[in-house]
Amino acid sequence: MTDAAALSSAETPLAREVERRRTFAIISHPDAGKTTLTEKLLMFGGAIQLAGQVRAKGERRRTRSDWMAIERDRGISVVTSVMTFEYRDCVFNLLDTPGHEDFSEDTYRTLTAVDSAVMVIDAAKGIEARTRKLFEVCRLRDIPIVTFINKMDRESRDPFEILDEIEEKLALDVAPLTWPIGRGRDFAGTFELKSGRIRLVDGGDEAAGTGLEALGGLVNEHRLAEVTEELELAQGALKPFDLASFREGHLTPVLFGSALRNFGVRDLLDALADLAPSPQGLDSDKRPVAAEEPRMTAFVFKVQANMDPNHRDRIAFVRLCSGKLTRGMKALQTRTSKIIGIHAPQFFFAQDRALAEEAYAGDVVGIPNHGLLRIGDTLTDGENLSFLGVPSFAPEILRRVRLEDAMKAKKLKQALQEMAEEGVVQVFRPVDGSPALVGVVGSLQLDVMSGRLKAEYGLDVGFEQSQYSLARWVSAKNKQDLADFLAANRASTADDLDGDPVLLAGSQFQMTRAQERWEKIAFTDVKDVRKVAA
Ligand code: G4P
Repeated sequence: MTDAAALSSAETPLAREVERRRTFAIISHPDAGKTTLTEKLLMFGGAIQLAGQVRAKGERRRTRSDWMAIERDRGISVVTSVMTFEYRDCVFNLLDTPGHEDFSEDTYRTLTAVDSAVMVIDAAKGIEARTRKLFEVCRLRDIPIVTFINKMDRESRDPFEILDEIEEKLALDVAPLTWPIGRGRDFAGTFELKSGRIRLVDGGDEAAGTGLEALGGLVNEHRLAEVTEELELAQGALKPFDLASFREGHLTPVLFGSALRNFGVRDLLDALADLAPSPQGLDSDKRPVAAEEPRMTAFVFKVQANMDPNHRDRIAFVRLCSGKLTRGMKALQTRTSKIIGIHAPQFFFAQDRALAEEAYAGDVVGIPNHGLLRIGDTLTDGENLSFLGVPSFAPEILRRVRLEDAMKAKKLKQALQEMAEEGVVQVFRPVDGSPALVGVVGSLQLDVMSGRLKAEYGLDVGFEQSQYSLARWVSAKNKQDLADFLAANRASTADDLDGDPVLLAGSQFQMTRAQERWEKIAFTDVKDVRKVAA
């Protein structure tokens, strides 16, 4: 029997702590109500007294993106990267995914650190582009998703139509847990399918009654007939909720509500507490790691630099995968074999941070450091293993950086290196010695980069088109095959931050031609940066 199997769930104090963790993110299209819902979740979780404190929204609107707001107001952004609150017996860790429309690697990496997600859909709009994209990332890991259909208090689409759309566009079964009683101006509340419990929008948290009979006393005949018919249809046509199917990422439980009116938020928290998984085991290069194992393991999924402009400090956001982290403990960074003292791990709350005396699998702590910790790094209590699966995406935009003051080339090199380590940008150094190229996945990242180069390093830069537009990581089973390829393509290969080789091409046509000519070479557009330490 393995160690993990011996420790059946919740048998030890550690297992009990792990069991009550719920680490999740909210995915949505901008404007669907993520900020409002986040505020309300924190409010119900007692983390903030009044809604409206998560971020200054008017402020945010004036900026071009959350990232720019992040630049301007790091104090606030830091505390929104992850927020911890308690509800019932559970400890919730809500990880923020920036809301701007651009594809951002940061968001995608954040989704590698959660055990479940809440998909917020605007009831009038259904599945929108960004929700779909984020959903696809969740699907890569079969992350269980709870769906919250928001803004039911506004003119909205027919619930069946929205559910059909989820099924069709996302190939995901739907199982409503609640059903809306009316919609738009007539939205009166919800009927819980399983128990028949009725909650009214104006009724606070108390159930207004149970069952259709009770509903008859609360709404007019017309509404009762409508809800009865819809419920019959829903129960006949839709799958009942199935926990296993949800946990495998094949089925989503659906709740209807209005974040603005505080309605359905408690249902959502209850659904997360009752149904969403506690931290799950994770595969490493050596062995599967179970969350409730006593040995501490963790990985870095995000690095945020220069949170305090006066100090070049960085915070590495670390997700604990197993065991317990205690302040002051020593951890092994398996990429470098360095031992790191964890002296000041931090927890983040809605408006505060606090030293984390201890943290458990599922928790996210911030570890201040001076650039030692990189995205994808694994930390353990001594065991030499590395987790797999924090991806790096091939850039969709490649540029040369034009420096206004050529004397500052060395500083630029250092700045790019630091920003690449932080994951803001990818840097490719051509092996023929020509100037480095920067790669980003969305054009907004270029704005963020130039803004930060100016603000934090005093560098004025512009970007120039490069002769290359595509980059693919190259590898081969046989070392000699790779060496032959690199020798023959010296003029168009570069090294990434880790020294891994990349082929640069001017067009898809050129890339395809190279792929056809070099059959023994694998060309990939996603790199696992949590790769095995060489
Ligand atoms: P986001 O983070 O997903 O971008 O969305 P956010 O919460 O900022 O919400 C976008 C807009 O939708 C806001 O209105 C917000 O008040 C509104 N909203 C959110 N949830 C609901 C809901 O359940 N019902 C209704 N009717 N509206 C909702 P805004 O006018 O753009 O901003 P504000 O002036 O209210 O701050």
